Amino acid sequence: MTKHILKMTVNGETHEVLAEPRELLVYVLREKMGMKGAHVGCDTSHCGACTVEIDGKSVKSCTMFAVQAQGANITTIEGLGSPDGLHVLQQSFKEHHGLQCGYCTPGMITRAHRLLQENPNPTEAEVRFGISGNICRCTGYQNIVKAILSAAAEINAAKEAAQ
Ligand code: FES
Ligand code: FES
Repeated sequence: MTKHILKMTVNGETHEVLAEPRELLVYVLREKMGMKGAHVGCDTSHCGACTVEIDGKSVKSCTMFAVQAQGANITTIEGLGSPDGLHVLQQSFKEHHGLQCGYCTPGMITRAHRLLQENPNPTEAEVRFGISGNICRCTGYQNIVKAILSAAAEINAAKEAAQ
């Protein structure tokens, strides 16, 4: 099958990859760009483990062909923080025990990151609705929700302090 040269920006860096039209974005991110944080939990668009941000929207990267991301600006969990400099959301998940196995966590945090940009001061119900496309099979969600609310409060406090 003919391969296409795809150019996209991932976590602020331009990437060029060769991909067949049948290849899903999540596989191209993982296998051709080394972004292993986007996980494949179902391959049927239910679990959200593959969630990334594309041009300002949360997208399940198993629901999209890589060729559809030509020219897109993509943020994966690798673009949100680093082991030495965790993002506020990552730190909050750590502090509030918002994970057990961790398989859902990159997608959950990437979704939460977008959610807090859309709604910087969400209620608990809004957080629960906002992450309803992301399934966690082991935490029961309580600590995930706590972590997101705590991160929102921290981000808002930092914004106020900077004014
Ligand atoms: Fe994409 Fe489950 S792997 S939604
Ligand atoms: Fe295990 Fe969410 S922490 S699936």
